[in-house]
Amino acid sequence: MTSFISELPKVELHLHIEGTLEPEMVFALAQRNGITLDYADESALRAAYQFSDLQSFLDLYYQGMQVLQTEQDFFDLTWAYLERSHADNVRHVEVFFDPQAHTERGVPLAAVIGGIVRALEQARRQWSLTSRLILSFLRHLSQAAAFDTLRQAEPFRQQLSGIGLDSAEQGNPPTKFAQVYAAAQAQGYRLVAHAGEEGPASYIRDALDILKVERIDHGVAAIDDAPLMARLAQERIPLTVCPLSNLKLQVINDMSEHPMLALLHAGLCVTVNSDDPAYFGGYMNANYRALQQGLGASERDLLQLALNSVEACWLSPEEKAVLT
Ligand code: HPA
Ligand code: ZN
Repeated sequence: MTSFISELPKVELHLHIEGTLEPEMVFALAQRNGITLDYADESALRAAYQFSDLQSFLDLYYQGMQVLQTEQDFFDLTWAYLERSHADNVRHVEVFFDPQAHTERGVPLAAVIGGIVRALEQARRQWSLTSRLILSFLRHLSQAAAFDTLRQAEPFRQQLSGIGLDSAEQGNPPTKFAQVYAAAQAQGYRLVAHAGEEGPASYIRDALDILKVERIDHGVAAIDDAPLMARLAQERIPLTVCPLSNLKLQVINDMSEHPMLALLHAGLCVTVNSDDPAYFGGYMNANYRALQQGLGASERDLLQLALNSVEACWLSPEEKAVLT
């Protein structure tokens, strides 16, 4: 069974590159950049990775990423993630990054995007591991700040496939970003948003109807809303679900309670993803294994989940055919 998972060709659609920053790299980059950390060593930092909710994670996530300062730092971060993905037999990745978390600290957008893209291109040359890059707005900041970021991204338009929305969900509904999503759509960006992770099912509906997204990140709150589930199944709107993330952030209390199989068996295009694997305890294969061992997913279920990711990804039909 474990070899079935490791041999399955996989596609990852919900991954925050800053969430792949392992404690070892936090310390290495802190030393390289002359930064003093609040933690004595790597194991002390790792021991702090105990979260009660999304915000308790976000506090450490934004703190950790302050060691990322140069183009080379972003290259090294992204390359380490791609090496792990390649080892997990991941064939295609669609990667989020949080530009505002870096530009706010004075790191130029060119260094952020340049380092990430250099690593993505090297993985394509070296392993035929393909990718897309998604610029994500921080929803705890204003829509005006998101507009500012969209404008700053204009020189990098060709390297960016889509826009997303992440950070603290509760109190920051999709409606807050209606105009900036319309502006991004007019510029040809593809649209996704985090919705229904900690927030209610109504945020999923608003992301679809007001932001006009084509894919929902997380979306597990759909399980509370039968008419919404029927619509998501009917329209085959992909949900990029993150099992270990949901467990670590206490969206669920135990993997046996995860709604993944209920959503899958109701005909939704649910997919498996790792979200912030350095913080949540595992990369892609570990997330598939958690569904198998903690929820009782069969090989048939896992295969359907992997096929859903191919359906939901942004490769061309010809490129998708190679994966299946
Ligand atoms: N949810 C919201 N914001 C985030 C996440 C997440 O899982 N990871 C990184 N930023
Ligand atoms: Zn996420």
